[in-house]
Amino acid sequence: MKARILLLPGDGIGPETVLAARRVLECVEKRFGHDFDFSSALIGGAAIDACGHPLPEDTVRAAHAADAVLLGAVGGPKWDDAPVRPEAALLGMRKELGLYANLRPAKLFPALKGASALKPEIVERGIDLVTVRELTGGIYFGEHGYRTGSAGREAFDTECYAELEIERVARIAYELAEKRSRKVCLVDKANVLTSSRLWRKVVSDINEDYPSVQLDMMYVDNAAMQLALDPSQFDVILTSNLFGDILSDLTAAIVGSIGVMPSASLGATTVGMYEAIHGSAPALAGLDKADPVGTILSAAMMLRLSFDLDEEATAVENAVAAVLDAGLGTPDIGGTLGTIKMTDEIISRI
Ligand code: IPM
Ligand code: MG
Repeated sequence: MKARILLLPGDGIGPETVLAARRVLECVEKRFGHDFDFSSALIGGAAIDACGHPLPEDTVRAAHAADAVLLGAVGGPKWDDAPVRPEAALLGMRKELGLYANLRPAKLFPALKGASALKPEIVERGIDLVTVRELTGGIYFGEHGYRTGSAGREAFDTECYAELEIERVARIAYELAEKRSRKVCLVDKANVLTSSRLWRKVVSDINEDYPSVQLDMMYVDNAAMQLALDPSQFDVILTSNLFGDILSDLTAAIVGSIGVMPSASLGATTVGMYEAIHGSAPALAGLDKADPVGTILSAAMMLRLSFDLDEEATAVENAVAAVLDAGLGTPDIGGTLGTIKMTDEIISRI
C-alpha cells in the first residue's frame, strides 16, 4: 500500500527516536512491499528557533495532507520562557487534527519484569491494560487565566466536558474493550466534580449499547492506588484528559520504563498521530542513549490503526519483544546498547 507519513522530530531525543522508527518503517516497507512517502516538518522548540512559533502553519498543513503523523517529543529548558511554549504545539496538533482519543497501552514485556517499579509477586499476575484518555477537552482546553481577587492575584483553569465529547471517546474505549477482555473502568472524581458526574451518566447510557462489556467506575485516587496494588484487574481505563495524563505515567512505571510506552491519538478523521509517551529528555539528547522502543512501538500502532497493516505491526512488536528477550536494551531498562544499536537489533529481527 501507499501511505504518506509526516515525521515531526521536535526537540531533545525526539529526532533520534523518530529516526529509529523511520528506519523500522523503511524495513517494513521493503520486507512487505509497501510504498511509504516520508516528509518532515518543524514542531516545538525547533520550530520556535527556526520561525518563532512552535506550531507553524506549514506543519499543520502538512499534517492535514498526510495519512499519519509520527511525533518525537517537544520541549526543553531553552524554551521555558518562550511567549508560546513548545508544549502548546502538541496541544495545538491534537486540537487541529481533532484527535480526541489517546490510546496508551501498558503491556508488560516478560523480559522487563525486573524493571517494573512493582513487587515481583504483583508483576507476576501480568499487566496488559490500555488507558483511553480524552485528548481535546477538559481542563487542558477549558477557560483559564489570571484575575485579581480579594486575596491578591488569582489563577484559574476550568474543567468542562460536553456530552458529545464524552460519548465519542467512550465509544472508542468500548470498541477497544470488545476486542480485548471486555472490561471498561471509568476513572473520575464523581464524589467531588460535577463534570465527572456527567461522565458517569453518559457512559452508563452508552454501556447499554455494549452488552458484552462490563463497566466499572472508580475514583481517580483509588485508581492510582489500585494500579500500584494490582494492575492485573484493569483492561481498558477510560478517563479525562488530565487524569489520563497522570495515570498513564504511573502505568509506564509499572511496565518498566516510560521509554517503552507508545501511544496513538485518533479522532474524527483517519489521520492519526503517534508518539511515545515520554518527553524530550533534554539531558539525553544527542548522546545515543535514548530508548527508541516507545517511538518504534508507536510506529507499529500506526501500521495497525491508520493503515490496517496488522501483520506488519505484529512483526515489529515481535521483533521488539525478541530483542528484549535476548536481554538487550538501552540504559533506562538496565541495558548497555545505544539508540542506534538497539534499533539495528530490532530491524534485524523483523
Ligand atoms: C503527554 C505530555 C503532554 C500532556 C505535555 C507535554 C503537554 O505530558 O503527552 O502526556 O500533558 O499531554
Ligand atoms: Mg504526560
